[in-house]
Amino acid sequence: MSLPPLGPDVTQEFARTIYGRTPDGAKLGDLVLQSREDGVLAGTADRLRHRATVACPLGNLEFDTLLHLPSGNDPTPVVVILNFDGNDETLTSFPYEKIIQAGYAVLTAHYQQIEPDDPNPPAPGVRGLFPAETWGAVAAWAWGLSRLIDIAATVDRIDSTNVVALGHSRLGKAALWAGVQDERITVTASNESGCCGAALFRHPGGEDIEAITRRFPHWFVPSFAQYSGREDELPVDQHQLLASIAPRHVYVCSAEDDAWANPEAEHLSVEAARPAFPPNAIGYHLRPGGHALLEEDWLKILAFSSQALSQ
Ligand code: GCU
Repeated sequence: MSLPPLGPDVTQEFARTIYGRTPDGAKLGDLVLQSREDGVLAGTADRLRHRATVACPLGNLEFDTLLHLPSGNDPTPVVVILNFDGNDETLTSFPYEKIIQAGYAVLTAHYQQIEPDDPNPPAPGVRGLFPAETWGAVAAWAWGLSRLIDIAATVDRIDSTNVVALGHSRLGKAALWAGVQDERITVTASNESGCCGAALFRHPGGEDIEAITRRFPHWFVPSFAQYSGREDELPVDQHQLLASIAPRHVYVCSAEDDAWANPEAEHLSVEAARPAFPPNAIGYHLRPGGHALLEEDWLKILAFSSQALSQ
């Protein structure tokens, strides 16, 4: 396998060939508190729900956020993460108690409130609110992570200089693209992000460009599909995406039974990117089991992040 070399910044090349450019120019407008509850174990965290309005060039985007904030006066680092099934579902799927114990706030929103995950969406998401941009849904979700950081920056008890951007699977692809573009992100973490995430295109196995662009054409710029079956001709590969985040921190998680996300291609990508990073600034784990964001993944990501943030 011969990979394109690490070297000059190839962010523009990733924007042109795969994700599209994530535009600037949206401002957080209203952030309206909907409710405040005692979250997790009583007394250890506040649970706050907000309705956010972001002014975009062609109109407003509105979405709901859920924030878990450890009790106390000390500013805490924050994990920003889009979720798959709505904010309330995270109350059972995210290990909030352990996350709070580890000293992190978590700010989340439902990814489809940012951009529908549909090649022919019934209603447009944020991509319909910017004129004349060509960007795929992955780039739109990356935009959503950046708006969560804007929101985190308004909360006194959050240390918004210490931000972990995390995503699972398709949202891991989005977390990586956000990590490349938004320098406020201290640690970028992708969980089983696979094809167009952490996995090398040029290492065979798992999902390939033909499969991903056939099922999910809306995730990328339309011209990306021309590389179907022509992985070797792509001007970039994903170790360069990881390297574009350096010298900031990156953590990549794989699962042994998740062949579709190609754990070996994710690992090789991390190793190929490693020379771009300061020592210990890129981390990786491979755990047993299948495709899911488990408590074990969270805890390993947070342990890596705590070490990174203390440097
Ligand atoms: C599909 C898709 C993957 C994606 C995954 C997910 O399996 O092919 O690219 O990562 O969905 O988001 O769960």
